[in-house]
Amino acid sequence: MLESVLRSLGLGEVNSGVCGARWFETPGGAEVESINPATGRPIARVKMGSMADYSRVVDESRAAFEGWRRVPAPGRGEVVRQLGQALRDRKRELGLLVTLESGKVRSEGEGEVQEMIDMCDFAVGLSRQLHGLTIASERPGHRMMEQWHPIGPVGIITAFNFPVAVWAWNAAVAAVCGDSTVWKPSPQTPLTAIAVHRIAHEVAEANGFPGVYSLCAGGAEIGAAMADDGRFPLVSATGSCRMGREVARAVAGRLGRSLLELGGNNAVIVTPKADLGLALRAVAFAAVGTAGQRCTTLRRLILHDSIADAFLGRLARAYASIRIGDPWEDGVLMGPMIDEAAVGAMMRALEAARAQGGTVVCGGNRLDRPGFFVEPTIVRADPSMPIVAEETFAPILYAMTYRDLDEALAIQNGVEQGLASAIFTDSVTEAERFLSAEGSDCGIANVNIGTSGAEIGGAFGGEKATGGGREAGSDAWKAYMRRQTCTINGGRGLPLAQGVRFEVDAT
Ligand code: UN1
Repeated sequence: MLESVLRSLGLGEVNSGVCGARWFETPGGAEVESINPATGRPIARVKMGSMADYSRVVDESRAAFEGWRRVPAPGRGEVVRQLGQALRDRKRELGLLVTLESGKVRSEGEGEVQEMIDMCDFAVGLSRQLHGLTIASERPGHRMMEQWHPIGPVGIITAFNFPVAVWAWNAAVAAVCGDSTVWKPSPQTPLTAIAVHRIAHEVAEANGFPGVYSLCAGGAEIGAAMADDGRFPLVSATGSCRMGREVARAVAGRLGRSLLELGGNNAVIVTPKADLGLALRAVAFAAVGTAGQRCTTLRRLILHDSIADAFLGRLARAYASIRIGDPWEDGVLMGPMIDEAAVGAMMRALEAARAQGGTVVCGGNRLDRPGFFVEPTIVRADPSMPIVAEETFAPILYAMTYRDLDEALAIQNGVEQGLASAIFTDSVTEAERFLSAEGSDCGIANVNIGTSGAEIGGAFGGEKATGGGREAGSDAWKAYMRRQTCTINGGRGLPLAQGVRFEVDAT
C-alpha cells in the first residue's frame, strides 16, 4: 500500500523538500525521516532546505510575483481552478498519504484533501469578487474609491495536524489575490507537503508561472528566517502560542504583517435544556477526533451541576466504544498521536492534573503496541487547576461543573486562548446570551454543534492568545492584499477637504 501511494504521487525513497521556480534536486539541508506514527517506522526520507536554498527560493518567489500580479484576477482564478481539479483527481492517494504520515483516520485524511478542493473552489469565485468600495466625496466633482492590490510574496508556516489544508487556506486565496507564496511545512509531515506542492507546482508551471507556489522544508530556523525576512510583507503562521509570540515579535519588529492561527483551549457548555444525546455525540467527536490534535479540539467540558454525573457516565461508555487502531482501517475512529514527544506531553499533563486534584474518569494510559497510541481520557477537574488553562495537544478532556450561565461563561472565557466555543441548549435565551457581546469571547461560537470541524466558508481564527488572525472564507482575503484609497478629481476646481482654504496665485 505504502509503495503504491508513494509511487502514484511521484515520491521516492529520498525526496527533495525544496522547490522555487524549479525543483532543487539536492537541497543542502539535513536529511530527515518521515515517520508513520501508527508504526513508529520511517516512510521515506526528505532532504530539507539550507539557508542558501531558502534564500534562493524567496528570490524566485519575488520574481514570480512580479509577473503573477499582472495577470487579471479571474485569470489567476483559472489557475487555481485547475489546481482544485488536479487535487480532486488525486484525492484518494493524497488522503491516504495524510493518514500514513499524520496518523489521521481515513475519512479525516480525505476530508483534509476535500478542504483543499473546497478552498480552491472558493478562491475561484473570489477571483471575480475582490471588491473595493466607492465612497461619496464631500468635494464637488470628486470621487473616492478603494482598490485592493496584491501585497507580495507571502510566507506560510503550517503545523503537522493539518499538514495541507491550512496551506490551501492561505495559498489558494493568496494566489487569486496576486501573491506568490513560500511554504514551510511541518518537519513532521514533509512528504504530504511535497506531494501536494508537486501538484501545485506542475499546474503553475503548465500555465507559465513556475514559482507562484514555492516550498522550503526545514526546521524552526527556516520559520525564524521567514519572520525576519523583509521580502515577505505578510507571514501567516499556524502553531503554538509560544511560536506565534516569536513570529509576531520578529515580524512586528520590521513593521511587517503577521496572520496568526495559534493555540486554542476550547470549551463546550452543556445546559440542562440541551438535547443530551446530540451534545454527547458532538463532544465525543470534538474531544477525540484527530486524537485530540486539532487547534479546535474540545478541551474543557462545562456541565450544569444537575446533569454532570449522568452525562459523564454516558460519555465514558461512549469513549469505551471508540475503536483505536491503524488509521487506514475501516471503522477505526482514533489513530495515533504524532510522535513520542506528544505522548510524553500527554502523560505529563495527566500527572499534573492528578497532582492538582483532578480525577481520571476514564482512559489515561498509553496502548501497549508500536506507534504512539493512547486512550482518550476524561478528567474531572476544577477550573482553577493551572493545567486546565494550558493547551495540551492530546485527547484529554477536562470536565467541570457550573451552577448558572454567568458562571459557565466566566469559566469558558477564563483562559488566555480564544479560538472555538459552543453551547448545547434548546433555549433561545441561553443561546442568544452565549452569542451576545457579553457571551463567548472566542473567534468561533457555535450553538448545538461542537468546537471542531469548521467549514471553509467562514473566516477561521481566534482572539486573545490565539493570535487574532482570520483565514479561509468570508473576507479573510483582505489580509493578503494591500488597500489603496483613491480620490479622483474630475473637475477643474481644487476644493480642499474640511473646508480648508489655500489660495495661491497660479498665473
Ligand atoms: C487546526 O487545527 O489548525 O475546524 C485547524 C476545524 C478544522 C481546522 C482546524 N477545519 O477543526
